[in-house]
Formats: sequence, structure tokens, C-alpha cells
Amino acid sequence: MSKLWGGRFTKETNKLVEEFTASIPFDQKLAKEDIAGSLAHVQMLGESGIIPEEDADKIRNGLLQIKDLVDQGEVEFLVEDEDIHMNIEKLLLQQIGPVGGKLHTGRSRNDQVATDMHLYLRTKTTELITLVEDVQNAIIGQAKVNIETLIPGYTHLQRAQPVSFAHHLMAYFWMFERDKERLIDSLKRINWLPLGAGALAGTTFPINRKRVAELLGFDTIYPNSMDAVSDRDFILEFLSIGSIIMTHISRLAEELVIWSSQEFQFVELDDSFCTGSSIMPQKKNPDVPELLRGKTGRTYGNLIGLLTVLKGLPLAYNKDLQEDKEGMFDTVETLEGSLKLLAPMIETMTVKKDVMRKAINNDYSNATDIADYLVTKGLPFREAHEVIGKIVLYAIQSGKFLLDLSFEEYQQFSPLFEDDIYNVLAPEHVVAVRNSFGGTSPVQVKQQIKLAEEKLLK
Ligand code: ARG
Repeated sequence: MSKLWGGRFTKETNKLVEEFTASIPFDQKLAKEDIAGSLAHVQMLGESGIIPEEDADKIRNGLLQIKDLVDQGEVEFLVEDEDIHMNIEKLLLQQIGPVGGKLHTGRSRNDQVATDMHLYLRTKTTELITLVEDVQNAIIGQAKVNIETLIPGYTHLQRAQPVSFAHHLMAYFWMFERDKERLIDSLKRINWLPLGAGALAGTTFPINRKRVAELLGFDTIYPNSMDAVSDRDFILEFLSIGSIIMTHISRLAEELVIWSSQEFQFVELDDSFCTGSSIMPQKKNPDVPELLRGKTGRTYGNLIGLLTVLKGLPLAYNKDLQEDKEGMFDTVETLEGSLKLLAPMIETMTVKKDVMRKAINNDYSNATDIADYLVTKGLPFREAHEVIGKIVLYAIQSGKFLLDLSFEEYQQFSPLFEDDIYNVLAPEHVVAVRNSFGGTSPVQVKQQIKLAEEKLLK
């Protein structure tokens, strides 16, 4: 059988052109969606009397048979049939004969392909929401058993103030919570139906777009046919949300790489999530978090790629738009793979509380608390800051930590010091008094985890 659009042509297509313009090597991923769209379209054609009901039935049966063949992996897609739409239409014609040719009535590949991608992203976005939640659950699991575990909190990667390890982990919960909100919100725009826009201007047939929307579960119909066939904002939005998710994953991955290094040793990743070196037998490499960090790059690339494809396109459909697919599939697959690994990696990692504790004991991250102490004794904060700066310098020069200085030494710097200063400096105390809403005190962290669990139940 020759090309479905072959009528106007006098020559065979150049083989290189065929290969260059074909999208079937990648858009075969849309087979299920393409058939679903066709099933709804043909049902509407039959119901509206645009084609006879019995023809619609034949087409429906043919499509269902093709669906089975596709599910069983028994279909051989052909480059000469260019894309998924024409491959399936060709199969239909082979299956049921010329009546199959009625399927494309009142429709174009332009509204068809857009519909396929809306359907695809709707399914994938819904699945990704669940995968994000799995990561959130893993975070909560570790947080719950580490509320009292203290870790240095950093700014500029310099020890700043001690924090609850649960608090540190939960910061990522909220990033993923916003990601989830973004994914959910994007469904509103994914749920716009392009089908029925025709090639660009609508169709002469009395189609019922509302019915198709109902059959395919869309709640909005594109009100402008030209916008419908050339809009890829919903994919841009997905790629952008995907990039933000990967940014969060990458930041957490970076922390896991740092924490599992010999220098930090705050956590140990489970053996089943690490790999070895082919030459250095002692090595246990954090390949998974490294790759999570590394794969973030391709998701940014996919976003920039599509933004660039779209920026100069005149209305309506242009073949450039075919370039929207591989990046989209790649980001979907990158997100799926990354989220699926991240959750169990967090669940199975060992938190080395004793090492974290040693780090806390051997630093000056309680300095702010002595400043606050002097403030409560009436000294203006700026002056207190200056005094404590001098104390820290003195302590460093004498090779001591703040808890090691004697009461006399404190008194030399300010007569306001009393012997309750030592209680103030204890790391537990330092953490417990940061009890403002959203702070790191155990009371606040417990409340935060409760709030997080409520979010997940919604
Ligand atoms: N394979 C095409 C794509 O992905 C389908 C639409 C083709 N439309 C056309 N007018 N050539 O964009």
C-alpha cells in the first residue's frame, strides 16, 4: 500500500527524506493514546450520523484488534508510514478494508497528535504524582526516627547552627509538596481537548467536540482551533515542572554524596544502592545519587530544547512541532527512574547519629546562643555579637570549644555571664529553644511532620 497522502505525488519519497521526517521510531510510544483518541472520534462520528453506525462499529472493532496486537508487541511499525497515526491507520485498512478510511473524517493528524500527547501526559503526570508521594513518605519515615538526631546546620557549607536531622530532611518534603501541587495544577491545562480543531481551521462536518471531550475525560475544549493544533505550552509546563523536580532531587543527591563521603560519614547508603570500583577494592561509590544529580542536566536540556523549537514558530502546525516528543519522553522516563530509586535509597540509608553528634560537639555552632544569652541579659544584639566574636576567636586560639571555657574566662569578656551559660550552650538546648513556628525544635518538627502527614492523606 502506498502513502496515505500519495495522491498528489508523482515520485517516490527519497529514502533519506523518509528516515529524516519519520517520527515512528519514537512516537510509537503513543500507540495506546492514538487508539483511544480514534475510538472516541469514531464513536462521535457514528453517533452524530457523520458516518453510518455500522461503519463506526467496524472501525471500532478493527481498532480494538490493533490495540491487542500492539499490547502483545505483535505490530511491526514501518518508517515508510512515517508516524504512529499513519501506521495505525494503515493497519486498520489492512484489518478491515477501505471502510477504515472513514476514520479520518473531520480530523487531521494535527489535532490528533496534540490529543495523543495530552492523553499521554495526563496519565504520566498522574503516575508521577504517586511517585513523588512515595519519596515524600520515605522522607517522613526517616524524619520520624530522627527528630532528636542532631546534625550541624550549614550556611555557605560552614557550620552555622545545630538542627534536627529530621528538620533537614523535611525541608525536602516541602519542596516535593510544591512539585506535587504544580503537577496537580498542570492537569487543568493538560485537560484541554484539541481534537476537532482539524488541520487548523475546524471542519465542515457537524462534529460534536463536547461528546469527544466527555468520552476522553477532558474538561475543557480549546476554543480556538489554531491554538489547539499549535499549543505545546502544556508540554513546556511539564518539562519545566520536571526540571524543578530534578533540581530538588539533585540537591538532595548532592547532600547524600557529601554525607556519605569519608570526610563527613553522616550517612551510609545501603550496599544495594552503591557500586564498586574496578581498580580500587576499598571503594563504595554513591553512583545513584551522582547519576540523579547528573541526569538533571538532560531535563533542563529538554526544556530549553522545546522552548527554542517554539520561539519562532508561526501559526499553526509546523513540522518543527514533531521535535516536542523525544524530550518529553526522556523527561518522563528520567523522572520515573529517579523518583523510583530515590524513595528506597532514603528508606535504606543508615543515619550515623554518633558521627553527627561528634561533629556537633566539636564546633562553634552554639555561638549565636551565647549572643542571644547576653541579649536576654540586656546587651544590644550588635554588642553581644562583637563580644561573642572575640570569645570564639579566643577559644579557637586556645584550642577549645565554647563548652570548654571556664566561667572565669567567660567573665573576662563580660560581667553579664552567670553560670547558667553552660545549660544554654548544650546542643539539645540550642535546638529546643528554636521553637518558633517552622523552627528546628523537637516540638516544632513533630508538628511539621504531622502537618506533612495530613497533606499526604488529602
Ligand atoms: N508526526 C507528526 C508530529 O509528530 C504528526 C503530525 C503531522 N502533521 C502534518 N501536517 N505533517 O508532529
